[in-house]
Amino acid sequence: MTNTPRILQTIESHILDLQKLHPAASGDFTGLLNDITFAAKIVSREVNKAGLVDILGATGESNVQGETVQKLDDYANAVFLKCLGTRGQVCIMGSEELAEPIFNDVGPGSHNYVVIFDPLDGSSNIDANVSVGTIFGIWKRRSLLNKVGPADLLQPGRQLVASGYVIYGSSTMLVYTAGHGVHGFTLDPSIGEFLLSHENITTPFVGGIYSVNEGNEPTWSEPVRETVRQLKYGRDSGRGSAGGKTSRYIGSLVADFHRNLLYGGVFLYPPTADKPGGKLRLMCEAAPLALVVENAGGYASDGRGPILDITPDQLHMRVPLYIGSRDDVMWIEKMLSGVQR
Ligand code: AHG
Ligand code: MN
Ligand code: MN
Repeated sequence: MTNTPRILQTIESHILDLQKLHPAASGDFTGLLNDITFAAKIVSREVNKAGLVDILGATGESNVQGETVQKLDDYANAVFLKCLGTRGQVCIMGSEELAEPIFNDVGPGSHNYVVIFDPLDGSSNIDANVSVGTIFGIWKRRSLLNKVGPADLLQPGRQLVASGYVIYGSSTMLVYTAGHGVHGFTLDPSIGEFLLSHENITTPFVGGIYSVNEGNEPTWSEPVRETVRQLKYGRDSGRGSAGGKTSRYIGSLVADFHRNLLYGGVFLYPPTADKPGGKLRLMCEAAPLALVVENAGGYASDGRGPILDITPDQLHMRVPLYIGSRDDVMWIEKMLSGVQR
């Protein structure tokens, strides 16, 4: 009896199965997720041959964040802008690389979705061939009757209908949640398909890893310093210290987050002297990953409360971020806010 090959499920088929859970669905959401998948394949191709094509290095410009824009940032940004909402599903697009959001003139079509994305995360690592990624969040348009406006754009993560990320690493993986579990798909470049490789990802309740840029320690607050000390040496729980964690920090949020999601651990980006409100962006980094981690059993906090409950005051709002294994993040939040949650 020849063993029949295990046919893995493509992401397109997985998304269609998801649509069956919503009989009234128009197919717009399915189309939008497939547009994101298509853009990810194109960016993956460029990232994986960046060393061969003159696409490495910086453009010489800086973006709204005041950060040097790498050529791949620009390229990835252009690809997602071009691929998203090709069938009229998107009314607003917001990118980390664009100062202002793009409001699509609401012509024919549903235009029911708002998509905010970080087209290339970890871009300072590009020239060193370190894993980089894309992060995206999808919200529903709120003002169904009148013209879209700030109320449709500035929504808390709790209102996300889906979010996920792509990691361009030793292989390219797309991980997403639409509220029915967290699922990972690995790109098979030989057939150009993302195939289901990590179904129903759950993250360990307690992790063995902490990820933080210790170079920022001189400008952390004392509670943050004490928290990281106890992550390193073990919690001074009064019942003997519960062994310290090991340190892993890549400097690409998507790569650090993905490893901690699978292995268990906590990523920290506390406020620093030059970023007193935190470095990472709420809408295109923290909130989408917070939805993923909560659907995998983890938690994400700004040090006072859930990331998902924060309503942005502007598209590029930054927040402190503590994200990963639930017990670790809840403990950090208690350490920093002094409040038992
Ligand atoms: P981006 O490349 O999209 O600007 O994001 C970079 C972020 C994030 O990926 C990473 O965790 C963090 O910057 C690293 O910051 P430091 O270099 O200050 O540690
Ligand atoms: Mn980023
Ligand atoms: Mn970026």
